[in-house]
Amino acid sequence: MRPLLEVNQLKIAFATDKDEVVSVEEVSFTVNSGETIGIVGESGCGKSVTSLSIMGLLGKNGQIKNGHILFGDEDLTKVTEQRLREIRGNEISMIFQEPMTSLNPVYSIGNQMVEGIKLHLKMSTRDAKEYAIKMLDKVGIPRAREMMKEYPHALSGGMRQRVMIAMALACKPKLLIADEPTTALDVTIQAQILQLMQTLQKESETAIMLITHDLGVIAETADRVIVMYAGQVVEEADVFTLFKEPKHPYTQGLLASIPHLEYENEQRLVSIPGSVPSVKHMPKGCRFHTRCPFAEPHCQQEQPELASIQEGHKVRCWLVEKDPLKPVVEKPKEESVR
Ligand SMILES: Nc1ncnc2c1ncn2[C@@H]1O[C@H](COP(=O)(O)OP(=O)(O)O)[C@@H](O)[C@H]1O
Ligand SMILES: [Mg+2]
Repeated sequence: MRPLLEVNQLKIAFATDKDEVVSVEEVSFTVNSGETIGIVGESGCGKSVTSLSIMGLLGKNGQIKNGHILFGDEDLTKVTEQRLREIRGNEISMIFQEPMTSLNPVYSIGNQMVEGIKLHLKMSTRDAKEYAIKMLDKVGIPRAREMMKEYPHALSGGMRQRVMIAMALACKPKLLIADEPTTALDVTIQAQILQLMQTLQKESETAIMLITHDLGVIAETADRVIVMYAGQVVEEADVFTLFKEPKHPYTQGLLASIPHLEYENEQRLVSIPGSVPSVKHMPKGCRFHTRCPFAEPHCQQEQPELASIQEGHKVRCWLVEKDPLKPVVEKPKEESVR
C-alpha cells in the first residue's frame, strides 16, 4: 500500500539578513494511513520546521530547497497556495503547543468552529452549529452548547487544547499534525488529551504525526518513531525496537535521560552533554560527533547516510554501519550525572 505521506530528501532554508541558513536537510520518512508516527528530538532539531513545510506554512523567509512531499497524488512542494489552503483544514490539520496562537481571541469558540465547518464541509449555519456542539461534546467539553458562547481566554489550557482538537478533527482530516500538543499542560491533562486523540483517531482512521521532545509521550502513543538531530533524521524504528535496541548514540542518550523509577533514590539522570549545534555552525562530518561519546576520527570528516540496518530500522551512524548485526555501540560510560 502506498503511504499517505511521503517526505523525500527534504531540505529547507531560511533567508536571514545577510545570508541563508539551512535548518532541515536530507529528511525522509513516510506516514501510513491510521498510524501514529512520533517525531522526537531536542529543541532546535527541525521538528517544527519539517511539519510547517508539510502544511505550506514556512512563512516568507522559509523555502523548500530540495525534495518532495507527496500527499496522495500531489507533491505539496509544487501545488498552488490556493490548493494548499484547501488541503489545510480539509485533509491535513495541525494543532500546536499553545492553542492561543491558533484560536482567535475576539471570536467565541462557537463562531470559530462554525465558520471552519461551514467553509470546509459546506454545511448550513444551523447544521454546522449542531455538528460543532457534537464535536465539543466528543472531546469532553462539559456543557458544550453553552461553551459555544465562551471566548478562548475564559477557558483553561486543557480546555483550549480540547477545542483545538475538536476543530482539527471536525473535518475528518487524513493527517493530523500535532506539534508538542501537550507540552504546556500538566501531566494528568496531558495523558487525557493524548488518549482523546487516539480514541478519535481510531474512529476516523486519521494518521497522526506527533511531535515532541518527550520520549515518555512517544512510548505511550507512537507506532513508529523518527529521531531528529540537528535538522536530520538520525534514527527510525518501530516504537518497541527504538526503546529496546536504540542504535544511534543520540537516541541512546535521549533514552538515558528519561527519569527511571529505579533511579529515584539515587536521583540519577544521565543527560547528553553539550547542546544542539546552531544551524550557522554545523559541524563537519557527523553532526552529532561533537557530543558523541564514541566518536572516531572518521566521524569528524564525513557525514554518514541514513542507512537501513534491518527491515524498518534505519540509522545514521558510522559505528553502526560497520557491523549491522552486532550492537557496536554500548551504553555510554558514566560521563555525566544528575
Ligand atoms: N523563521 C525562521 N527563520 C530562521 N530560522 C528558523 C526559523 N524557524 C526555525 N528556524 C531555525 O530552524 C531550526 C529548527 O527549528 P525548529 O524546527 O523550530 O526546531 P524544533 O521544533 O525541533 O524545536 C532552528 O535552528 C531554528 O532557529
Ligand atoms: Mg518545535
